[in-house]
Amino acid sequence: MKKLGLISLAAAVVLSMGTVAFAEEASFTTIAEGKLTVGTSPDFAPYEFYHIDENDNAQLAGFDIALAQRIADDLGLELEVVPIDFGGILTELQSGNIDLGISGFSPTPERAETFDFSDLYYTGGQAFCVSMENKDKFESYDDFAGLSVGAQTGSIQMGLAEENTPDANIVGLNKVTDIVMELLNGTLDGAFIEKVVAEQYAKNYPDLCVLWDVEYDAEGSAIAVKKGNEGLLEAVNGVIAAAIEDGSMSDYIAEAMDLASDEEHTQEISPGEAVEGMTEGATE
Ligand code: ARG
Repeated sequence: MKKLGLISLAAAVVLSMGTVAFAEEASFTTIAEGKLTVGTSPDFAPYEFYHIDENDNAQLAGFDIALAQRIADDLGLELEVVPIDFGGILTELQSGNIDLGISGFSPTPERAETFDFSDLYYTGGQAFCVSMENKDKFESYDDFAGLSVGAQTGSIQMGLAEENTPDANIVGLNKVTDIVMELLNGTLDGAFIEKVVAEQYAKNYPDLCVLWDVEYDAEGSAIAVKKGNEGLLEAVNGVIAAAIEDGSMSDYIAEAMDLASDEEHTQEISPGEAVEGMTEGATE
């Protein structure tokens, strides 16, 4: 297994540099021999989401999943993706239950104290969302004082909410899809969501409105690796560089956006369904 990892890393270096380079001795271990176990929170199209296949089975899809598959393939490992609510992924990583967190992670300085992060594989932005019917009601964040503003538990969007709407009733939800649902049914008045994700759900649910962009200074998405696993971090960086260089990363993103926009086969967010983590009394 280590040998395979080495060979592919060398290949990745060659591809990314466009010239022959010597791969350093990069041996890595994974929690299960021959396997790459990846944690992700599939509520985040086009990064990771469920797509319904022709047999009506929900399949994990998205550009993070494609990248995870590429990493596993290049390192000669079998991929196992474990769905985990976003707020729990880093805990599972720290506990040694997964090898990588691939879930649109922003590599913040606080997280970087405890975890290693790969190079960026995607750069996006942040957005603030409301429902279409409310879009003319708000002019600035001040208008959200006393109203309910949502963000995903454990995400940097929680910090954005605290920073920008400190006087709102800030509600943390486990899944971004639940945030979208609650915006649509009026339980939430506003929400902080990654921009490309907000735009994807606004495409799927035209009642959702991306109201304005939100400033954030640690932009971009990276893969979380447990500290002390330098070999794996290096190998992951090699594959990211190769996937960007050979154009696959752009393909993964385009394919994920296509699939996430496939109306017939994208998992419905059904308003009215019981929501885990819903805060009582958070109505307008
Ligand atoms: N980029 C944000 C963060 O790192 C949100 C990521 C959420 N990912 C997800 N799959 N729900 O905190």
